[in-house]
Amino acid sequence: MPSNRTRLIAGNWKMNNDVPAAKELASALVEKVSADNGVEVVVCPPTIDLACTSHKIEGSAIKLGAQNVYWEASGAYTGETSCAMLKSVDAAYCIIGHSERRDYFHETDADENKKARALIAAGITPIFCCGESLETREAGEHVAFVTAQIRAGLDGVEIDSADQLVIAYEPIWAIGTGKTATAADAQEVCGAIRATLAEIYGEELAGGIRVLYGGSAKPENIAGFLAEEDVDGALVGGASLKADDFAAMVEKAGE
Ligand code: 13P
Repeated sequence: MPSNRTRLIAGNWKMNNDVPAAKELASALVEKVSADNGVEVVVCPPTIDLACTSHKIEGSAIKLGAQNVYWEASGAYTGETSCAMLKSVDAAYCIIGHSERRDYFHETDADENKKARALIAAGITPIFCCGESLETREAGEHVAFVTAQIRAGLDGVEIDSADQLVIAYEPIWAIGTGKTATAADAQEVCGAIRATLAEIYGEELAGGIRVLYGGSAKPENIAGFLAEEDVDGALVGGASLKADDFAAMVEKAGE
């Protein structure tokens, strides 16, 4: 990674860990994750675990992220969580546009756009996910598909500094399947994402925005992804649930 972008390793716990388990994992991470190896570290627990995780990681180098948000400020939106609520537990990041949200909960590019706007206005950095299905990849349309997701999701979304936005490229066929993209696959799409960001935000801002890879990332394969020019870190699912594996990935990102 011949750039001055700070590497970012983010753990997406998905719908795992009740409150006692979240406390236990957060405490183990505080103990095991390197505090000052130059890598930014974020954990994204389920909403119910945000407050207790925030408490456990307080004073450590680990930052908090949420997995979802609703764009309205308050009111009759049963089951939803606002940006201000995320701020109140010190969430610095929030995942949006994950393929599981798009597929299982029918979220659209227009929804992700509203979430991105609300988060940035609230001073929370979106981790904006994009990625193609196996069918789209086999048709050779993956680059066009992902860059279209970026254009639609970020349409009219303004930023003044590169740290207000993170992108995560997660090919759907590599999520939770044990099947990883090759480092070259990841670079092809992450490079295209950065070129699209440059069209939207200009070269300078785009050059500072972190683009992560996600999909069966683990201690054994992370170094290969990070060696690519446009891959600045990882959004980690399964391996983020094991403190030793997650800490090992942070360690490798610092090498
Ligand atoms: P896995 O690392 O379990 O494949 O999940 C990736 C992911 O979806 C992270 O958001």
